Amino acid sequence: MAKKTVQVGLLGLGTVGAGVCRLLQMNSEQINRRAGARIEIKKILVRDKKRKREAAVAPQLLTTDPQEILRDPAIDVIIELIGGVQEAHTHITEALRHKKFVITANKDLMATAGADLLALAREKGLNIYYEASVGGGIPLIRPLKYSLGANRIERIMGIINGTTNYILTKMSLEGMDFDTALAEAQAKGFAEQDPANDLEGTDAAYKLCILAGLAFNSRVRFEDIHVQGIGGINQRDVFYARELGFGIKLLAIGEEIAAPAAAAFDPATGAASASEAESDSRSGSAASSGPSTLPGRLALRVHPALLPLTHPLASVLYENNALFVVGNAVGEVMFYGAGAGALPTASSVVADLIDAVRNINHEVENGIMEADFQPKKFVPKEALFSAFYLRLQAKDEPGVFASLATAFGQEGVSLDMILQKRSIAGIAEIVLVTHEVEEKNFNRALGRIQKTPAIKELNSVLRVIGK
Ligand code: HSE
Repeated sequence: MAKKTVQVGLLGLGTVGAGVCRLLQMNSEQINRRAGARIEIKKILVRDKKRKREAAVAPQLLTTDPQEILRDPAIDVIIELIGGVQEAHTHITEALRHKKFVITANKDLMATAGADLLALAREKGLNIYYEASVGGGIPLIRPLKYSLGANRIERIMGIINGTTNYILTKMSLEGMDFDTALAEAQAKGFAEQDPANDLEGTDAAYKLCILAGLAFNSRVRFEDIHVQGIGGINQRDVFYARELGFGIKLLAIGEEIAAPAAAAFDPATGAASASEAESDSRSGSAASSGPSTLPGRLALRVHPALLPLTHPLASVLYENNALFVVGNAVGEVMFYGAGAGALPTASSVVADLIDAVRNINHEVENGIMEADFQPKKFVPKEALFSAFYLRLQAKDEPGVFASLATAFGQEGVSLDMILQKRSIAGIAEIVLVTHEVEEKNFNRALGRIQKTPAIKELNSVLRVIGK
């Protein structure tokens, strides 16, 4: 029989936990109507009962003992908002054993152990909801899992770390230096506890594990992603990028490169009829409209990149996040909004709670599960394709451009743009942009350039993403 009241246990009452309490109070009537039952927070796990909170909660709801929540048979749903991996994993596993639905905003946990936890939930006839684990208030998990479920997703490209986007926007639009912009991002509260996780691309890579897993229907681990952070990006690169018509963004990119056409699917054996080509073939783009179900290979990366100012993602500024998705039926779609913050993240958590309550009463959520994932191969770093931007210092003398052009030409790298703005004390600053090239060829050309006597210093190498 449908429950009139569903009781919830909250693990954690930090920024997002307080946001959840505030939202449940703010929109209680509508939330209860949509859930089809009255939602009641029965207990809240905190570390310190005396701490001042950003939400009005009755003191008797607070407990420091997780078992009071995890073993309470009256509690049907737990919301895990304590963060970290180990403790959250232990609590969620125990909650599932005690037949509770789980909601979490924990990206590190879902990226590293999500598939196993989801399998355990399925085994128990339960579910784990994690809309808030990526992109704060932006709906991303449901669209990838359900709304775009009929598509073969060719590409996802996102700005999914607010801290780095804030820093790069401030450097670009206000000429602010890196350290001041980082300090502002920390003061605004969207940087990770250890901001190295933002700056080095780790946070974005964990989010990409989750998004790429859903988009490409495969299990993705952190180690499968090529990761580079925004350290070393200089005001001069931001300046040159704008001059050439680009912004610099930390991008998380996932692509499924279609299996080579020669490897046709044989319905009799269920296997590919030709051996898989070792090197990536761009001609076999994922845009194939044929009925092949042969898995492609996944190219996954997080790195700063020059992005044309005309690209929809280039207009995503400050701490905002966005995900640009290309599906073979829907075409291009983009999801945009606040990637962190108390109420935006609570918006996703409480939406999950509405679903969980409806599920408890009516079994509504039974869609595509991560347990249906197919194993896929990953494209090695050297076989990724990008265009490249380079800034270097060279002797201002005859033949320097020729030697650069020769070094690139010998490795089959074609140049797209060349810029020389100034020469100080006989040293010229040169900026080059190549056409799209396989990473291993570019690296060979770079090796040659570094050995060229007229080249005094290589300042920056950044990828350029054109579409
Ligand atoms: N540190 C993250 C960011 C917060 O800057 O986007 C949300 O995960």
